Amino acid sequence: MKKKATKSPKINENTELKPSKEFSKNARVKSMAQYKRMYKESIEKPNTFWAREAKDLKWQKKWDSVLQWKAPNAKWFSGAKLNVCENCVDRHVEEGRGNKAAIIWEGEPGDKRVITYRQLLRDVSRFANALTAQGIKAKDSVLIYMPMTPEATIAMLACARIGAVHSVVFGGFSAESIKDRLDDSKAVAVITCDAGWRRGSTVPLKENVDNALKGNKTVKTVIVQKRIGNEVKMKRGRDKWWDDVTKDMPATHKPKGFNAEHPLFILYTSGSTGKPKGILHTSAGYMVGTYTTSKYIFDMKEDDVYWCTADVGWITGHSYITYGPLLNGVTQIMYEGAPNYPDWDRFWNIIEEYGVSIFYTAPTAIRAFIKAGDQHVDKHDLSSLRLLGTVGEPINPAAWLWYHEKIGGGRCPIVDTWWQTETGAAMISPLPGCTPIKPGTATLPFFGVDVAILDENGNECKPNTPGKLVIKKPWPSMLRNIYGDKKRYKDTYWSDYKGYYTAGDGALKDKKGNIYIVGRLDDVLNVSGHRLGTAEIESSLVAHKSVAEAAVVAKPHEVKGEAIVCFVTLKTNITPSPALKTELRNHVGKIIGAIAKPDSIHFAPALPKTRSGKIMRRLLKELVKTGNVTGNITTLEDPNVIEQLKNIIKE
Ligand code: PRX
Repeated sequence: MKKKATKSPKINENTELKPSKEFSKNARVKSMAQYKRMYKESIEKPNTFWAREAKDLKWQKKWDSVLQWKAPNAKWFSGAKLNVCENCVDRHVEEGRGNKAAIIWEGEPGDKRVITYRQLLRDVSRFANALTAQGIKAKDSVLIYMPMTPEATIAMLACARIGAVHSVVFGGFSAESIKDRLDDSKAVAVITCDAGWRRGSTVPLKENVDNALKGNKTVKTVIVQKRIGNEVKMKRGRDKWWDDVTKDMPATHKPKGFNAEHPLFILYTSGSTGKPKGILHTSAGYMVGTYTTSKYIFDMKEDDVYWCTADVGWITGHSYITYGPLLNGVTQIMYEGAPNYPDWDRFWNIIEEYGVSIFYTAPTAIRAFIKAGDQHVDKHDLSSLRLLGTVGEPINPAAWLWYHEKIGGGRCPIVDTWWQTETGAAMISPLPGCTPIKPGTATLPFFGVDVAILDENGNECKPNTPGKLVIKKPWPSMLRNIYGDKKRYKDTYWSDYKGYYTAGDGALKDKKGNIYIVGRLDDVLNVSGHRLGTAEIESSLVAHKSVAEAAVVAKPHEVKGEAIVCFVTLKTNITPSPALKTELRNHVGKIIGAIAKPDSIHFAPALPKTRSGKIMRRLLKELVKTGNVTGNITTLEDPNVIEQLKNIIKE
């Protein structure tokens, strides 16, 4: 049924919107005065602030100190004993939410499941017992390669419950990518599915795992959830069905208290080198960070129906599907499939059907919906929505305005949340009950986040002048390490300005202090909100037998935000052809995953290089963006290359 959207004043990209009186009245933070008071306390007296927040949660033993900080090493809630899973699940049953829906799940083909907090406790307990029975112990690393089924969340929570360290790999990544992550994390077990649904076809997850495991020596157990029922090979002694390992297990499990800094998970993300980095998060600080940000930024309340459309394979799925919402005891929607299956109104249908009140998605999805047409939205009643969110990339004003008007009916605040795999939780975002919002800005820092924008000399940039985004103080959900590589951790994040965290993003502040993210300063691409390293794609290209050299740059893209453009120099005896381009695209897809398939490949006789041999990607970036290169190119080893490339990109 269609319901009329609430009338809203005519707004444009320069309008600053304040929350309605009614929203503010009921919000957790009701006024800017309250935000400023709480923010001041969180910066000046972080121990007082965070101790108060942490008290909402269950601690088997209280902490001795809130923070111990010797840059770049932080210890939050030292001396405490806690179980993150107990806080996500058991606590709610104890507090009377046993029969409340924790997860309302919809599979892509339309199958449905409702899992209450009590059932979740039983399922997680059974699976935790099963993991233990398989010999998996605290600190063991367990790789999870699953589609968006409740079992993905159950597997993560069960690992947390027994102190095993989960390493979730996005289901769209290839066997090669799984292999790299298995090798780096030295996982002892893999949890996967027979296959997953994607836009009506199936993704052969178990087969990818089998290929990744060739030659592997550390993995002793593979647990397979039957999702599709397709035939898969099961290696005797190693591979077991989820149902078989859980069926005789008790549905109770005592959650052991772990140390505050006990490792919780590793999540791999792209950086400026060919190999992704294993970002390590630990228990107490991450728990308090995701709990608090969910509570204040999403304004989560007892009767909310929350839906985050991310995949558990990304940090957003960790912090704002598995941990943050469950720590807050809300009901959440989990959807398995594609946004446009069977049609472009799938999301709006889900919102209407379950009465979703808080909806969190990515700008790239919003742009795709705009393109698909308003008729898909108009069919549905979206009046249950009260709050919208975005994450992953800057949102362009046109997409913001459409989201605000068309989806939010002009009445819902939008929280544009800036954060990263490394930060663990949202860092810059409006608070929906008080912060004036404006298209394109993530606005103000969250509690405890001391942000600055610095120039090359470490001085604060003047308003509206871009610089490097840094965080000057530790925060609870911060990364603790790049798995197994303290030096790289220090060099990557803590060495630009002494004692400050460098985010890798360029940003500027307007006169009111609103922060605008300008984009990455390193060689990281943001394709449909997914982070990919140019070096990763380049190294997969040069691994192909026909390729001598490759350079990868981003080109602005209407829907994806950024598109992947590759310049490839072939080996001397290789003839360029359209078939070879297709082969190279598929090759990158095979090595990294379909999300990394280049949008275009140009065969270039040579790449623009300095005399010392460094590829000047900056010039290529300008070339694909504008079709031209301005400025001085005399430092190039061969300035004629630019003319050649100008012609090539026109082809
Ligand atoms: O460039 C920023 C962009 O995404 C990067 C982090 O990517 P990842 O670790 O994959 O985490 C994405 C989900 C948290 C950032 O360095 N980014 C993220 N959120 C925003 C954003 N850029 C602009 N506005 C945002 N709200």
